Order: sequence, then structure tokens, then C-alpha cells
Amino acid sequence: GNRTFTMIKPDAVADGNMGAILKMIEDAGFKIISMKYTRLSADLAGKFYEVHKERPFYGELVEYMSSGSIVAAILEKDNAVADFRTLIGATNPAEAAEGTIRKLYAKSIGENAVHGSDSDENAQIEGNFFFSQFERF
Ligand code: GTP
Ligand code: MG
Repeated sequence: GNRTFTMIKPDAVADGNMGAILKMIEDAGFKIISMKYTRLSADLAGKFYEVHKERPFYGELVEYMSSGSIVAAILEKDNAVADFRTLIGATNPAEAAEGTIRKLYAKSIGENAVHGSDSDENAQIEGNFFFSQFERF
């Protein structure tokens, strides 16, 4: 697969790290196909992360993801899903490799700066969640 989906999460946008993170994404060879600056309602954040609804942190995750503005984007690159997960680093910034986006910008396992799709199938589902067919080129 050559596409993935990302969000720059509310903590990173609020801290003024949106530009630096987009620069890292571009420097790593990802092309931005579609992008929007927006905010999720709690309802939409809950739908987006529905796979985690039985997890103990779900309520906290939904509250956090709807707490402020985000950037949503579809990215293109060979091996996009895996290469993007490498670029962002482990979910918990304490375990993220040096030089990764989460190592540099995440605050905690919850407020961890960026999202990256975990499979080609989810990349497509998540891109379609945010962008209409007319916004995906
Ligand atoms: P995403 O790219 O956002 O999907 O992160 P991930 O794939 O690295 O992690 P996962 O899908 O397992 O979890 C989704 C999101 O839930 C994480 O990115 C965190 O924001 C949040 N999360 C995961 N584990 C915890 C936790 O133990 N506590 C809290 N508060 N949030 C968590
Ligand atoms: Mg995930």
C-alpha cells in the first residue's frame, strides 16, 4: 500500500508543533494528498476510535481527541503505513526511538502528538472518515 492516514493531535497543535511535525513528515518523503485543520466533536472522536471502546482509557482518549484543533491528512509514500509508524515511534513516548515524532513531541502515552494508521485497510477507512471522494485525489 502506498497511502496512510495521520492526525496531528490536539496537544501538538496547541503547543505550536504543527509546522515542525509537518516538516518532519515531508522530509521523510511523504507527499500530502489531502489535509484539513479541524476539530472533532466527542461523538466523532468516539466513532473514530470505536475499536478501543472497551479499553479502560477510551473515555479519556475521546475527551482528549475532542479537546482542541487537529490536522488530518492522507499521506502517500511507498510502504506508507509501516514507514509512517516508524517515523512516529512507539505509542508511549518513553519507549519511542530517538528522532521519532513522538520522542520529540509527545507528552505521555495518551497525549502522544500524532496518529498513524495501523494497516492499509484502516488507512483507507480513516481517510474516508475525514475526506470525501472529491477531496481525495
Ligand atoms: P494511534 O496512532 O493514535 O492509533 O496510536 P497507536 O496505534 O500507537 O496506539 P493504539 O491504537 O493502541 O491507541 C490509540 C491511542 O489511544 C493512542 O495513540 C493514545 O492516544 C491512546 N492510548 C493508548 N494507550 C493508552 C493508555 O494506556 N492511556 C491513555 N490515556 N491513552 C492511551
Ligand atoms: Mg492505533
